[in-house]
Amino acid sequence: MGKPYKYETVLVDIDDGIAWVTLNRPEKRNAMSPQLNHEMCDVVARMETDPDVRVLVLTGAGESWCAGMDLELFFRDLDDKPAERAVAIWETNEWRWNRLYTYPKPTIAMVNGYCFGGGFTQLIACDFAIASETATFGLSEVNWGIIPAGIVSKALIDCLSYRDGLYLALTGKSFSAKKAEEIRLINKAVPAADLRREVETLARDLIKLNPEALRGTKQAFKNVRGMGDVQAADYLAAKYSELKFRDKDDGYSKGIGQFIDDKTYKPAFGAYKPGK
Ligand code: ACO
Repeated sequence: MGKPYKYETVLVDIDDGIAWVTLNRPEKRNAMSPQLNHEMCDVVARMETDPDVRVLVLTGAGESWCAGMDLELFFRDLDDKPAERAVAIWETNEWRWNRLYTYPKPTIAMVNGYCFGGGFTQLIACDFAIASETATFGLSEVNWGIIPAGIVSKALIDCLSYRDGLYLALTGKSFSAKKAEEIRLINKAVPAADLRREVETLARDLIKLNPEALRGTKQAFKNVRGMGDVQAADYLAAKYSELKFRDKDDGYSKGIGQFIDDKTYKPAFGAYKPGK
């Protein structure tokens, strides 16, 4: 048993392979303060190698998922403190994009409520996003005179169509979870009462799969974006070889053996049995 995950602005509950990570500033609608970003850097760094964590779920306390950057603590308070501001920017980018986007374990954004501005960074970084039908989204930056910076504009253009992304960034209009599903910002909008069950079902399905194959698949998929064909093919060949080296369960041989020789499963309909 390692050091407990104990923080002031983040709650962590690890249950049978699933880490439920909750941004916990409900009185500020889970706006991201420098302290929250600092604590989240620790959470994601530690969970990367924690064998008890197979899937990371990111959610928010109360009625909000994340109201973006904290306008007081992250922006105004740091305006005339360049050194603190530099650290705060470094940490917020670190956990949400540098770490989470190609995190070695699957990640699910469980969007329980408001998602605004900078919250889009971790929303898009997560591999999956499932939202309550009651959630509200918005790129509100333009409404108060800034641009979607950090990595938000880049994440948007990679995730959404040119027309949808630009419309949302330029109008600053908020929109529903149904709309978010329609433009594929999220995978699915579900009734609020079903949200946790939906996310848990997905997480449990992922836990049945070979973790090294999942790691390689998500990293390969995300990293080839922006590569030319030749570089992508070479990178994918290297990633393919890396998986064989990393996978101590040797899923490749077991999967083929259980299909061809044992006839105990069909790869089209489910996972091979690990450890057999
Ligand atoms: N930064 C700092 N404080 C915030 C933020 C934020 N992003 N969002 C909410 N809060 C605070 C409010 O100031 C308020 O504090 P107080 O109780 O001390 O007055 C508290 O959280 C509750 O907020 P309310 O506005 O009273 O809550 P309500 O539920 O009515 O509205 C909503 C929630 C819609 C999220 C609203 O607070 C809002 O518009 N927040 C700003 C959202 C936003 O534009 N985020 C993007 C910021 S830009 C960026 O991320 C780069």
